[in-house]
Parts: sequence; C-alpha cells; structure tokens
Amino acid sequence: MLHEMKTPFRTMVDVETGTVDRAMFADADIYQLELERIFARAWNFMCHESQIPKAGDFFLSFIGEESVIATRDKKGELQVLLNSCRHRGNAVCRAESGNARSFLCTYHGWTYGLDGQLIGVPGYKDFYHEQLDKSQWGLVKAGKVASYKGFVFATMDPEAPDLEEYLGEVGRMSIDLIAERGDMVIVEGVQKNLIGCNWKLAVDNLFDWYHPQISHASAFMVGMLRGGSKLTPEDHAVLEKARAVGMSRGHRVVFGAYGHAIGGPRGSQEARDARRSMADRIEPIMEDLYRDTPQGRAALGEVGVDTSGHPNIFPNLWVSTGAYQLSLRLPRGPLNTEIWWFSFVPKDASEAKKKEIINSENHVFGAAGLLEQDDGENWDQSTRAMKGVIAQRYPLNFSMGLNKTPVQVIEGVAHVDTNINEHAQLWTYRIWTEWMDADSWATLKANHTKPPAHGDLI
Ligand code: FES
Ligand code: FE
Repeated sequence: MLHEMKTPFRTMVDVETGTVDRAMFADADIYQLELERIFARAWNFMCHESQIPKAGDFFLSFIGEESVIATRDKKGELQVLLNSCRHRGNAVCRAESGNARSFLCTYHGWTYGLDGQLIGVPGYKDFYHEQLDKSQWGLVKAGKVASYKGFVFATMDPEAPDLEEYLGEVGRMSIDLIAERGDMVIVEGVQKNLIGCNWKLAVDNLFDWYHPQISHASAFMVGMLRGGSKLTPEDHAVLEKARAVGMSRGHRVVFGAYGHAIGGPRGSQEARDARRSMADRIEPIMEDLYRDTPQGRAALGEVGVDTSGHPNIFPNLWVSTGAYQLSLRLPRGPLNTEIWWFSFVPKDASEAKKKEIINSENHVFGAAGLLEQDDGENWDQSTRAMKGVIAQRYPLNFSMGLNKTPVQVIEGVAHVDTNINEHAQLWTYRIWTEWMDADSWATLKANHTKPPAHGDLI
C-alpha cells in the first residue's frame, strides 16, 4: 500500500525545489527495502587492515543489520563471511575481534575454516551417513572484498563494480584525505553507542555546517571549538584574515557517483601557511603538513588539496577529516542508529601526543562527545516527529542556496565553492532514490545520475 504511494522513489525528492519526503526517515517498509537495495548491494566499510594483520585475525562488522566476520585466511587473503551458521543460523563468532583457527558454532558444533568452508560436522558419519556435501554448506561469503589503502570494504553483491570504480574520484579522495597523512595505527577498540534516529539523519548532519552555531553553542561558549588554547587574540585575527583571503566562497561541496559527497569548509594555502607560522603555539597537525607535499598533492588533486569538509562514502561511512577518525552509521531499524567510531593516531607520534589525540577525540564524538550529544538530541527529536501521520504530509526543506552556483569540474571532480548550503544532503537523497528504484546493480549502473557537468547550476 505504502509502496504504491511512494514509488517510484524519485518522487520523494524534488531536486528543483529542494524538498524531501519525511517518510524515508521513519517508514518500516522503506527501511526494509533499504536493507535490500542499499546495504546488501553497496560496498560497506568493514575495518582497517591494521585491525586484522595476521592470518586468523578477525573483526566483527555489519552489513546493514547483519553481522559479518572480516578475517584473514591461512593464505593471508581478506575474507568477509556472514556470521550465521548454515545449520540453524546461530552466530559462529561472538567476540568482537580476536584471532581464531576456525569458527565453531556453539549450537551443534559445525565448524568453519577461516575461508568459510565447512570443515567439521559432529556425527558426519553416524548421523549424516557421510551424505552431507560439505562443500555446499560453507558460510555465506561476500560477493567481493577489497581494500583501498588499507581500508577494507565488502559487498554482498558480486555484480557490484570493483571497489575503486565504486569509490570513483570522490570516494578515493575521501579516503586519501585521511590515508595520505602518513602512517597511522588504529586505536584498539571501537566506540559504539545507539542513538534514536534514522541512519540518514546522522549522515545528513556530517555535511551540515548550518547547525554548529546553534546546536553547539555551549561548546563554543566553553571554547571547545576555538582550537589551540595557546593561540593569542592576534593569532586568531591572522587566521581569520588568511581564511578570508583564501575563501571568499568558503564552503565546498564535491559530488561523487553513486552518492558519495564531501561538504564543508574550503581550505586554502593562505590558511595553511598562517597556521604554520604559529607552529610554536599550535602543533602543526598532519592535516596541514601532508597537503603540500608532492605526494599529498598528487593523491588529492587540485580539488582535494583545498577540501577540508566532511566526506561520506555512500551509504554510511563518514571520514572525519577534522580528526583521525572514521564513523559508521549502522541502521538498527528505521528509528535507531548504532554509531561506531574508529580512531587512529600517527604511528610516529609520541605517546603523550597519541594520548592527547585520543583524549580530544573522546570529548568530541562518541558517547562522551560533547558534539555528538548535542547532535544526537536533535536527530532523536527529528526522527520522533518524522513518524507522525500528520507530519508526513509535509516535506522537509533543502532549498538553501539552490540553483545559484555554477558547478566547476577540475581534473574530473565536480564541485561548487559557495556559501553554506545543503547541496551535499540533497545529492545524497537524490542518489538514494536511484538506489531504491533500481532492482539490480545493472539497473543502477545504467540509471544513476552522474555528477553534474561544468557550468550546471546547482
Ligand atoms: Fe550451528 Fe547447529 S546451528 S551447528
Ligand atoms: Fe554537530
């Protein structure tokens, strides 16, 4: 009934007027289809290779709501296996991470190798009379598994394009923005907490630079977002000036295929130089240093070098470029999202510096993060209201700055430099409708909107 009303899904997002149907944030049927058409089809982030360096290392991740084991088999190959026994469905791995020689189901004892093969069945001879074809009853394996610069992704759909093609220029740039900073190591443990919101609202917010002055007013008040406590008022004036020189249009949105996008402040050579000039008062963070190295420039390209906003790799991986973190927004029903935070530290930093980075990250995002508590409250209240039958008669407004700015395409990367806007959010929802309307990868490949062309008004 509802699908008759809402499909095709492209009717839910009006890119001309910037309106979005609220049902996509609350409707149970739509959510169920998202699990099928988005999560079971897309490349999903699993973990960083440094979390599973040796044969037998494993890390439990998720594809949509389904538990998967990311592991390395005896040959050292990456494997992603559905964490569900083929006999009665029990989980075959319960630890969040570790090292194993095989996965033993705790129900009746079927045992699977690191590559998912069924290798042990109690009573194989006496009860099954050796008539169970073990080669047919291994764990369900991902359709494709691949790593880009150490970041491991998997898709359940073998028809998906290869990872690098899926990421495209913008997805690769998004990872390069963290991977190119130099050698990093992952901090053990992933922070996980549940927020009562639809997963797309958490994604929407990472592009949103309209909310901080209101939502995070208290964080501003206590000086949390000012950065660098040793900076003098004169320093702040220099930074402001440099920012103004480099950024007459200070907000950059980058548009990628299949829904990837980056939104947020535009960086500039002037701002980086100004920060470097105060290196004795603020540590020159790697964020500044690597961008102007030949390798950094080559990896990021002309657009990436001055892109300081937040990337989302569709559907749900936020590369938090302000720090050394990645966040997954894992769907837990239409009205709940499990937020995961992976943190990294520079490999060669002093122990004190590593501690300082971790400490500051813990105070920004995650369950104890000041900003995430502010944000989570808003997403929770938005989601509650989205359920309303009355509320759903009225669309949401994404019209900020719409149809005003010509797109630039440089080195194949489509982007706009303008003021704060909602283009990245609208792009994400537009492409979301295409994923939802497509019944297969073949349809999606044929019908998805390409990033806008040079000169298009956005
Ligand atoms: Fe796994 Fe029976 S459910 S062995
Ligand atoms: Fe926020």
